[in-house]
Amino acid sequence: MSEPLLKVERLHKRFPVAGKRGALLHAVDDVSLSIGVGESLGLVGESGCGKSTLVRLLARLLDPTEGRIVFEGEDLASTPALRFARTAARARIQMVFQDPTDSLNPRYTAHDTIAEPLALLMGQRASAADRRVHEVADQVGLPSELLSRYPHQLSGGQKARVGIARALAVQPRLLILDEPTAALDVSVQAVVLQLLDRLRRELSLSYLFVSHDLNVVRLLTDRVAVMYLGKLVETGPSEALFRAPRHPYTQALVSSIPGQGSRIRLSGEVTSPIDPSPQVCRFHGRCPEGEDRCMRQTPPVVLLPGERMVVCHLAT
Ligand SMILES: Nc1ncnc2c1ncn2[C@@H]1O[C@H](COP(=O)(O)OP(=O)(O)OP(=O)(O)O)[C@@H](O)[C@H]1O
Ligand SMILES: [Mg+2]
Repeated sequence: MSEPLLKVERLHKRFPVAGKRGALLHAVDDVSLSIGVGESLGLVGESGCGKSTLVRLLARLLDPTEGRIVFEGEDLASTPALRFARTAARARIQMVFQDPTDSLNPRYTAHDTIAEPLALLMGQRASAADRRVHEVADQVGLPSELLSRYPHQLSGGQKARVGIARALAVQPRLLILDEPTAALDVSVQAVVLQLLDRLRRELSLSYLFVSHDLNVVRLLTDRVAVMYLGKLVETGPSEALFRAPRHPYTQALVSSIPGQGSRIRLSGEVTSPIDPSPQVCRFHGRCPEGEDRCMRQTPPVVLLPGERMVVCHLAT
């Protein structure tokens, strides 16, 4: 098998807790994953489980506490986020943010928004950048008449296209999409998602796709990683994982998709992410199938046929 584009090894991010000396919030806890060339990986899990923190580490907007981020064979984790912003690898990993209204500079026209990374990361002069802006606007279906407009003069869908064009301008290999359509109307969402799917094929891009919409994840990704309280609990090919989820948390998540049969409702308290005990399964207390050992032992990583992985005592 060829080398993955991105390989994440035992990544951790712990935040200090305000007002609690020495306490640490384990936002990302020992996460390992890889993304192949041209592959789309979905990242799912409930609010606060650490998805945005993980993708911000990978985009090198945050410094990890521990672990390796190997991209195209180069370890990026050792370069501090501030310095990374000026390296060539910065252009190879680009991020599309959730709300285009928040992430676009209101004082920049669409043209200048798309051109900025070309000057900053690639040192392109205005004329070369201008050609590239028109080229990439065309790729994302943004009419050139709109390039002179400011964000408040654009619709939500058009702003989303500007954000995507800006990310693509510098010819990245990996696009990180953190809820890229969550701020859009449902009808516009579908169009933007189709656009992203087409661009990935045409440009042979890899995606890391974060979304709460499991139907969208199922359609747009090759593989899925399920996160619970900072940890990956299950990974596998999307089709197989959604058809037959193995981790009790994934089973509950999948059962919430309309038309998936009876819904598994979780009760019980979510464990605190602050200094959690390593000897306990994080899902214990809410798990409908929890046993004694789940409270006393770290759950094992179980490799299953079909390139699947689940972290659960019950899978042994
Ligand atoms: N800068 C920070 N300082 C302290 N704690 C943080 C910081 N950023 C995130 N956290 C905490 O880390 C945990 C994970 O947050 P994160 O935003 O990554 O979750 P998420 O999965 O993206 O949630 P959502 O689905 O709501 O976007 C949360 O408990 C959050 O409060
Ligand atoms: Mg988030």
